[in-house]
Amino acid sequence: MAIGAAGLLVLIVALVVAEGLRQGRNAKPLPGPSLRELGQPRGLSIGTAVRVDALRNEKAYRQLVAAQFSSVTPENEMKWGLVEPERGKFRFEAADAIVDAAGSAGQAVRGHTLVYHHQLPGWLGGLGRAGLRAATEEHIRRVVGHYRGRVAVWDVVNEVIGDRGGLRRSPFAAKLGPDYIAQAFRAARRADPAARLHINEAGADAINPRSDRLYALVRSLKASGVPIDGVGLQMHVDLAGVPPTYVANLRRFAALGVELAITEADVALKLPASAADLRAQARVYRTIVRGCLAVKACRSLTFWGFTDGRSWISETRSGLGAATLLDAALRPKPAFRAVQRALRR
Ligand code: XIL
Repeated sequence: MAIGAAGLLVLIVALVVAEGLRQGRNAKPLPGPSLRELGQPRGLSIGTAVRVDALRNEKAYRQLVAAQFSSVTPENEMKWGLVEPERGKFRFEAADAIVDAAGSAGQAVRGHTLVYHHQLPGWLGGLGRAGLRAATEEHIRRVVGHYRGRVAVWDVVNEVIGDRGGLRRSPFAAKLGPDYIAQAFRAARRADPAARLHINEAGADAINPRSDRLYALVRSLKASGVPIDGVGLQMHVDLAGVPPTYVANLRRFAALGVELAITEADVALKLPASAADLRAQARVYRTIVRGCLAVKACRSLTFWGFTDGRSWISETRSGLGAATLLDAALRPKPAFRAVQRALRR
C-alpha cells in the first residue's frame, strides 16, 4: 500500500508530536510515601543511577528521580572516557547537569567512578608507567576538584578484584603495580578532603573469594593509613537471590570501621517475565533492603536505575531485563511495593 509523500509527512509529524507529548508528560504519582521519605527515619539514603539524556528530555523521569530518591549516581557521565575523552580536555557538561539537578532536588551525589578498567579513553592505552601515573593523578585531581563540595561520596576505584579473588590485572595494576589503589585514594583526598571515599566492588555482596580478597585489601589499606571511608557493594543479582551470607559479609566489613553502601542494586529476570517472576523479584529486593537495614554501617542503598525502560540489564544482557522497580511505563512493580514495605517495617 503506497501512502505517498504527503501521507509520509503527516505520519512523521504525528510521530514527532507524540514523542514530544510523551517527553512532556507528567509522571503518574507512585502510591504511598516516597522511598526517600521512607528511608529518612531509618537513616538510610535511597539512591538511583541516573542518565543525563533522560533527565534532560523526559519530564516524568525527572520528576520521579526528584520525588523518590535522596541520592543519585551518574550511570556513565563521570567515567573517564566520557569526562576526559582527550588528555587534559575535560567535558563536564553532562555530569554537571546531573549534579545541578541533584542540588535543586536536595539530593546527595555519588561520584562514579575515578579509576575503572571499563569505559576508558583510547589515549590512555598508549601511556607507559610514568605517563599513566601522572595522567591518573591529574584525572583525579581535576575531576574531584571540579566537584569539590558537591559530590558527597566517590567510588574512587571500581571492580579492582578479579572474579577468582586476586587483584584484577587491569591496565592500572599491570603498569602501576598494586599500589595504584592507595595512590588513587590519596589523590582523591587531596582534591576534596570532605568527600567520603569508597572502594566499589562487583560480586562481593556475600562471603566468597572475591569479598574475602576485598576484605583483606580494605583491612590493609586502613592499617596503612590510606584515606578510605567506605565500601560499596554493587549487588547486581538475579532470581538466584542474595546468598545467605550477605548480612554476615556486611557485618565483617562494618567491623573494619568503614561505612557501607549498596551501590548498584538490580535483579535481572529472564524475559518474558511471568507474574511469579515479578513476585520472586520483589522478595529478592526485600532481602537486599532488609540486609542493609540490619547493619548500622549500611547507610545508603542505590538502585542501578529505577525503570525497566532505562536499565543496562535489558540493554546489554541478551534475554534478560525487567530488573528494576518500575516497568517501562513507570508503573510500580511488585518490587517497588516490597521495597516500600521493607523500609516501613
Ligand atoms: C554500566 C552502565 O549501566 C551502562 O549504561 C554502560 O553501558 C556500561 O556500564 N558496574 C558498574 C557500572 O560499576 O559502572 C556499570 O554501568 C554496571 C556494572
